[in-house]
Amino acid sequence: MWGASTSAHQVEGGQHNDWSEWEKLNADRLAGSAERTYAHWLEGWDRIKPQATDPANYLSGLACDHYHRYEADFDIMHQLGMNAYRFSIEWSRVEPAEGRFDEAQIEHYRRVVAALRQQGIEPFVTLWHWTFPVWLSDEGGWLSPRSTRLFARYAVKMVQALRLDVKFWMTINEPEEYSASAYLWGHWPGRKGFWRYLAVNRRLVQAHRSAYHAIKRVNPDARVGVAKNNNYFEPFPRKLINGLLKASADWWKNDYFFNRTRGCHDFIGLNYYYHDRLDFEWSDVGQILAGSFRGKNENRAVSDLGSELYPQGIYHALTDLKKYGKPIYITENGLADAADRQRAWFIAETLKNVHQAIADGADVRGYLHWSLLDNFEWDKGFWPRFGLVEVDHRTLERRVRPSACEYSRIIQRNEV
Ligand code: FCB
Repeated sequence: MWGASTSAHQVEGGQHNDWSEWEKLNADRLAGSAERTYAHWLEGWDRIKPQATDPANYLSGLACDHYHRYEADFDIMHQLGMNAYRFSIEWSRVEPAEGRFDEAQIEHYRRVVAALRQQGIEPFVTLWHWTFPVWLSDEGGWLSPRSTRLFARYAVKMVQALRLDVKFWMTINEPEEYSASAYLWGHWPGRKGFWRYLAVNRRLVQAHRSAYHAIKRVNPDARVGVAKNNNYFEPFPRKLINGLLKASADWWKNDYFFNRTRGCHDFIGLNYYYHDRLDFEWSDVGQILAGSFRGKNENRAVSDLGSELYPQGIYHALTDLKKYGKPIYITENGLADAADRQRAWFIAETLKNVHQAIADGADVRGYLHWSLLDNFEWDKGFWPRFGLVEVDHRTLERRVRPSACEYSRIIQRNEV
């Protein structure tokens, strides 16, 4: 399968959830600190500066107005030859008050799925891509002991509503990325605190398990998984201490969630972005104990966000996942590249490595690029451009990037 991914908060527009509330409280602060945060290390800062220092950049607002324009967006996907689309359902829309489900909003997602089916595009639906209804975040989000039960109820409601048309469900997006950003670093809505960070990790495990079983009870044919952010940790140079560091990083960042949710995955969704070269230094100990394994990469090629582009890494991430014995879908992989200078190269190189991983036994069934559209990149706002399709956020006009046409040629030939 070939396609692209988005998430509700990042593209739909018109949200009222914990993130939209957080944005209102934090937009001025983020704009005011942008120069301090980025200027000293981000190449191309001068180009980005006008947008990154403007508070409006940090308000998701209308986003891509995908909520109203999804049909036109699916036309673009169809023209590009895609046959898979990953998107998320916005919990705050379908359950705006506890226990009160909004049938009109559920109907909206039915129409979205029907529009996809009409174009021959397989829906991959995420139930929780990082945003909460305000009533639940007021209670502490995943820190609330009721959250897993409430999540399972919402999951069942959506699976019942879409059961005839949706086969692939993902409960949670990138559990570790969320828990670390919200609770370990305190960069996102949530409350910074190490014990809270551990508690949220455990809660995400429970949430997945209970939603998995609840979904299978109402639809045994559903294929249920998560979208899991696995990194490729490389001990460099190869020596014992670096090998131990890799083992710890793999255990905590890549394997912990899967180990604690064994038997609750019909497929593996892999979000691959990062390679980290690990070379132990005593000054890293504090970070390591906090569960963070920062890479000392060569950074020969970097994205607009300064992250290393290392397409070879996906080979290792995929072959490592063979141990679970499940079909694998790459549910995210991409880069911020406003000038579209590196995207075509990056996709082609990534796919060569995917091909090699398949040749070496990884059961990879699909590739969904992040993202279909330039969207709202969380606490960074609109300036990072991840889209195969460029979006002018003033006029909301779409323009297919040249790299998307390259990707389309690969799709059409089913070959790199
Ligand atoms: C992933 C997120 C996705 C998007 C990309 C760039 O970690 O799942 O929402 O922000 O990164």
